[in-house]
Amino acid sequence: MNRSNPVYCAVDTVDLPQAAKLIRTVAGGARPAVGGIKLGLEFFLAHGAPGVRYAFPAPVRATGIGFFLDLKLHDIPNTVAGGIRAVVELEPTFITIHTAGGPAMMKAAAETAAAEAKRIGVARPRLLGVTVLTSLDKSDLEATGVAADPSAQAVRLATLARASGLDGVICSPLEIEALRKACGKDFVLMVPGIRPAGSASGDQKRVMTPKQAVALGANHLVIGRPITEAADPDSAAQAIARELGAL
Ligand code: C5P
Repeated sequence: MNRSNPVYCAVDTVDLPQAAKLIRTVAGGARPAVGGIKLGLEFFLAHGAPGVRYAFPAPVRATGIGFFLDLKLHDIPNTVAGGIRAVVELEPTFITIHTAGGPAMMKAAAETAAAEAKRIGVARPRLLGVTVLTSLDKSDLEATGVAADPSAQAVRLATLARASGLDGVICSPLEIEALRKACGKDFVLMVPGIRPAGSASGDQKRVMTPKQAVALGANHLVIGRPITEAADPDSAAQAIARELGAL
């Protein structure tokens, strides 16, 4: 059991055997090197719920490993609620939805997650909001009719998410401090764009080390390639966990 490890390993592949092997490697041992696994759109669209059950089977889950199902849902309230209802049986710890879907959509998602979890007798999935995609800059926002700065818009959407019943948001390392201040200590901040000291940043432009992000107030860190593309993913994940005092 390793509840205090904040690292969610992003398994970004459509190769099912490879995903299963990676998950077994970093999360399947007696002392797992990561606190959770993130599966996203590409994996879920390719393999669906059976793929999740295959690559991330119950015995691995039973060790207390978290499951972040990063679907970034965005549709009318009824449809997003239906999507949430369909995946609660997979017992995700976290599910993502877009805050730009608005308060009614977020409320419907939060209520449905709680009601469906209660109905089938599983833990309530925590809902996390996506605010402003880090791929968008000020001019991209302007092109969509949003005049605010990306950082101000992220705070606005996170505040709205909190008021609409979401448990937290995904945010860039550079937004941690402002969002913690705006949304309080109980709001979950899940932070990608993390690079252990000395590792390649890849296509991530604004990165922070795991220790820096946690010190600023991140609850969970999403780390992909520094673990998944390492020659020895388990050792890479263990090194990160040790740096964080989580192993
Ligand atoms: O390999 P890397 O550590 O960059 O992976 C980061 C993960 O976090 C990927 O799954 C990516 O989709 C996700 N993510 C991100 N930046 C965001 C939002 C999500 O890198 N702004």
